[in-house]
Amino acid sequence: MSASGPPIGILAELTHRCPLQCSYCSNPLELLKANRELGTQEWLSIFQQAAELGVLQVHLSGGEPTLRPDLIEFVAALSARGIYTNLITAGVGVRDGLMDELAQAGLDHVQLSFQGALPETTETVGNHRGAHQKKLNTAHRVRDAGLPLTLNAPIHRKNIAEVERFIEMALELGAERLEIANIQYYGWALLNRQALMPERDDVMRVAALIETAQHELRGTLAIDFVAPDYYARFPKPCMGGWARDAFMIAPNGDAMPCHAAASIPHLAFENAAQTPLAQIWENSAAFNAYRGFDWMKEPCRSCERREIDFGGCRCQAMLLAGDASATDPACSKSPMHDRILELAIRDSSNGAAEVTYRRIGVFD
Ligand code: SF4
Ligand code: FES
Repeated sequence: MSASGPPIGILAELTHRCPLQCSYCSNPLELLKANRELGTQEWLSIFQQAAELGVLQVHLSGGEPTLRPDLIEFVAALSARGIYTNLITAGVGVRDGLMDELAQAGLDHVQLSFQGALPETTETVGNHRGAHQKKLNTAHRVRDAGLPLTLNAPIHRKNIAEVERFIEMALELGAERLEIANIQYYGWALLNRQALMPERDDVMRVAALIETAQHELRGTLAIDFVAPDYYARFPKPCMGGWARDAFMIAPNGDAMPCHAAASIPHLAFENAAQTPLAQIWENSAAFNAYRGFDWMKEPCRSCERREIDFGGCRCQAMLLAGDASATDPACSKSPMHDRILELAIRDSSNGAAEVTYRRIGVFD
């Protein structure tokens, strides 16, 4: 099936380089070195094509996108074409003045991640001394530059006890939005699942706490909550449906329906520096593989929720069921569902599990 309309959003992973080494990173294990990254003109050409294609939003991400010296140029080029720009940053190593310059170039929004709500947690999870204070400094610079701020709190066993403090911190920093997102188990997070999976009771406690806070803080702080797949009844509508209205571009230009699509071994991806973006969007065999509903098997094929969650996540189906066209095992209708709940309960009680920190070159 081909595209039913133009894409709305692109996640541009400008680089895999990052000063942090988070063990839950959703980047692939085979991280790309700097010499594999696209150059400035290649990205500018892609952004020009994105505008012509009708893209409305570009999320500038990584790794750490502020490591790219051409970031301001990218924001200015996108902004000049009326595209909404969102910077997704870890906020460490952001130089003085950069947020002001990005704001002047037309940046619309900043999403800043915190690995913990307490300094020692942030520093341990990201394996970076002083990270927490650097992030606080970045948050203040974002606000001083007049930019809207979303705090992103990726939640797992090492920091789930800090959710209340995350909410207080978001209020103290004047954030408009707080995203409390249970991590997704792909890439490095899957590798470290035994060390990161939270206990079910903690997940339930936090879900209730967040529901209360959402109600009490309405109009002051918007709080989004992403539930953990392994304890869910129904899966998330991953990427809003495969190649339905958004896609991602890796640092080397590979265009993929989602950030983990390389985990589906039979898919091949076109490179956006070599193939026109419009052609990729319309004709890529990888994009068309799971578009629409024709590829679905039962129980998804005849399910009343298929237009809500699109059968869940293709990558998770591949990673856990060994079949990318299977029902996402996060769904209670999947024959695998009980098995992943067992996996979650087993992993969550493994107090001795050690983490492997994300580093370029570990899996070359
Ligand atoms: Fe979604 Fe498929 Fe589960 Fe239905 S059976 S809820 S479409 S994943
Ligand atoms: Fe690939 Fe969900 S991460 S479809």
